[in-house]
Amino acid sequence: MAVEHVRITVFDTTLRDGEQSPGCSMNHQEKLRLAHQLDRLGVDVIEAGFPIASEGDFEAVKAIANVIRRPIIAGLARACRSDIERAWEALRDAARPRIHVFLATSDIHLQYKLRITRDQCLAQARDAVRLAKSLCDDVEFSPEDATRTDPDFLCRVLDAVVEAGATTLNIPDTVGYTVPTEFGELIATIRRRVNGIENVTISAHCHNDLGMAVANTMAAIAAGARQVECTINGIGERAGNAALEEIVMAMHVRRDRYPYETGIAGEQLFAASQMLSEITGVPVQPNKAVTGRNAFAHEAGIHQDGVLKNPLTYEIMTPQSVGVPDSKLVLGKHSGRHALNIRCEQLGYQFDRRALDDIYRRFVRLADKIKHVEDHHLLELIRDTHKPAASATPLFEPLSVAAAASVSASDSQRPFPLAAQTNAFGVPLPIPGDQHHDQEDYLWGV
Ligand code: KIV
Ligand code: ZN
Repeated sequence: MAVEHVRITVFDTTLRDGEQSPGCSMNHQEKLRLAHQLDRLGVDVIEAGFPIASEGDFEAVKAIANVIRRPIIAGLARACRSDIERAWEALRDAARPRIHVFLATSDIHLQYKLRITRDQCLAQARDAVRLAKSLCDDVEFSPEDATRTDPDFLCRVLDAVVEAGATTLNIPDTVGYTVPTEFGELIATIRRRVNGIENVTISAHCHNDLGMAVANTMAAIAAGARQVECTINGIGERAGNAALEEIVMAMHVRRDRYPYETGIAGEQLFAASQMLSEITGVPVQPNKAVTGRNAFAHEAGIHQDGVLKNPLTYEIMTPQSVGVPDSKLVLGKHSGRHALNIRCEQLGYQFDRRALDDIYRRFVRLADKIKHVEDHHLLELIRDTHKPAASATPLFEPLSVAAAASVSASDSQRPFPLAAQTNAFGVPLPIPGDQHHDQEDYLWGV
């Protein structure tokens, strides 16, 4: 008998909490481009921004709400009329709008930041949710700094906002302070004590100050949370938010422990990670779980030997399952536009026919000179062809997952290293003598 898995809602906040991290701000066009990729990735909710924060944020949320029609589009608002009305103005044309209202509930925030009493906080939260609900059916409420809030008071606030119409209760570990067992217990307490909880979705929103954002999120899921808030590459305030790709792959690889489904298309993870890195200019840490360039590279002889005999010896997921370009795809002068296009998409770029033609012409010229065109060559070439007006400096480091294991540090810093094409294990790939190819065909190594 088929086992039915519980569905976890993936709420992506790369464009809001992620964008708040130093060096990660994005302009309107960049936000829209990333929103399309998040849509392709299959996220359930895109938090597009904080409309009251600036005119630019307002316009970006509005544009995303108008153009991206499948996922829910959320906009953030403080618990006050001006924020909520502004958020609604930006969201009102969305196919599936959500207003996300937040108010701090911990004594330290009430006393020093907001200078209000607990009773005032409770009334403000309830009134704000009521107002949001009068505009929009789908209302999420977040008690900011929930993990440092007195649990009794937290449950009273949650009672009040559920009664006022909140449909999602998001529990933020705003300062990344909690630990997995404690956070799991907090979610269980909320499930046990909040009236009407069976009709709302509990959500987890974890920051990574102690490096436990993903572990805390997983503990919340195990305790009954059914929405996770996360960002691509884990970007976010200070040490970041829980990384989307890590949560999703933890559920995928450890289905025995986490028997849950998501709507995420795993093979789009690498492209999303690359696109974000290219847009922000912030490189992905090489040893980043799931999408770092070393995540599937094997350097040690013992590991290479094991992986060649059976990849399962040292790989718990395949590169393909997260969209890391197939290491067998060799791009050379015989490759056609189709192969080039696929590789560009894997690296997070989509081109129309004319732009692709342009890239292709340059690609063929380069391939004539250097035989094998690797990912970092291609990225340079794309950058040169579509140079942003403001900057001629490379936006991100050369990255060749396939060659990562074999290219030495000095090689990887040359503009066009002449390293042989290798597979993910650093083993040189022979060029088959009898490949079948035509203008639009792939050229596969064996
Ligand atoms: O970390 C946090 O508390 C937040 C809230 C606005 C949800 O980002
Ligand atoms: Zn946050």
